[in-house]
Amino acid sequence: MDAKIAPPATEAVEDIEIHLLLEALYRRYHYDFRHYARASIKRRLRQARAQLGFTSFSAMQDTLLHGDALVGQLLDYLTVQVSELFRDPGYFRAIREKVVPHLRTYPSLKIWIAGCSQGEELYSFAILLHEEGLLDRTLLYATDINPAALEAAQAGVYPLDRIAAFTQNHQQAGGRTSLSDYYTTAYGRAVFDKKLRAQVVFSDHSLVTDAVFAECQFVSCRNVMIYFDRPLQDRAVGLFKDSLSRRGFLGLGSKETLRFSAHADAFSEFVREEKIYQRAER
Ligand SMILES: C[S@@+](CC[C@H](N)C(=O)[O-])C[C@H]1O[C@@H](n2cnc3c(N)ncnc32)[C@H](O)[C@@H]1O
Repeated sequence: MDAKIAPPATEAVEDIEIHLLLEALYRRYHYDFRHYARASIKRRLRQARAQLGFTSFSAMQDTLLHGDALVGQLLDYLTVQVSELFRDPGYFRAIREKVVPHLRTYPSLKIWIAGCSQGEELYSFAILLHEEGLLDRTLLYATDINPAALEAAQAGVYPLDRIAAFTQNHQQAGGRTSLSDYYTTAYGRAVFDKKLRAQVVFSDHSLVTDAVFAECQFVSCRNVMIYFDRPLQDRAVGLFKDSLSRRGFLGLGSKETLRFSAHADAFSEFVREEKIYQRAER
């Protein structure tokens, strides 16, 4: 009797479908999630599949390829928009106390907020720079891949029920003024002063597929690289390295580090506990 031949080990069907869906998203729309940390992408895609009413990822892929109505929705699932004004106040306090004295020595400044989400991090920087008398000489670049988030960042409008937490963070970050100096309220929303974004360039930019575009004295990229696999993190840090001027600063999120980066040697720890690094001499 013939021995039963075991079938070759196969990839789970769902993994094949996810691979093909991400490939379709990239080849049709140039959004590249192929090297994001897979477990979190899988979780988000499962959520999208259920909530958008698809029976399979293959069905999603079909819809994605043959019309462009799904791509924006999918982006909203695949990109995490959690943020806050003066998120992790200790980070902004360290910038104010330890980085600003260096920034003051420059006649003009360029600051890049990479992965700015709906603008919370950007307004934090703008307010801090205003309080330190540096805003007028600073050009800020606020970049993200999610067009809806960029639009919200540009509008600078937040629900009023978020303001108490923002105000507390601002004070803990060493705020020198009252946060209410920077917004007006209308219809249950806080509208941030447009003077804060007078010198901001909002731009669609991907750390995965795009190149460096300016020489900056500070790059803040917080809570973005946690979603990337290691080679992708190296790519992003390589961009920051190439973008930073001599002795420029890089700020990361609280769960991020340069310790395992291929570019670690290009930086020194500046404020270790707040993940603020300085570009070593070129
Ligand atoms: C969790 S939010 C972080 C927001 C803010 N930086 C903070 O720390 O509060 C992550 C942001 O990264 C953006 N993002 C994801 N992939 C990106 C990429 N390849 N290039 C630029 N931004 C990206 C998302 O759209 C989202 O707005």
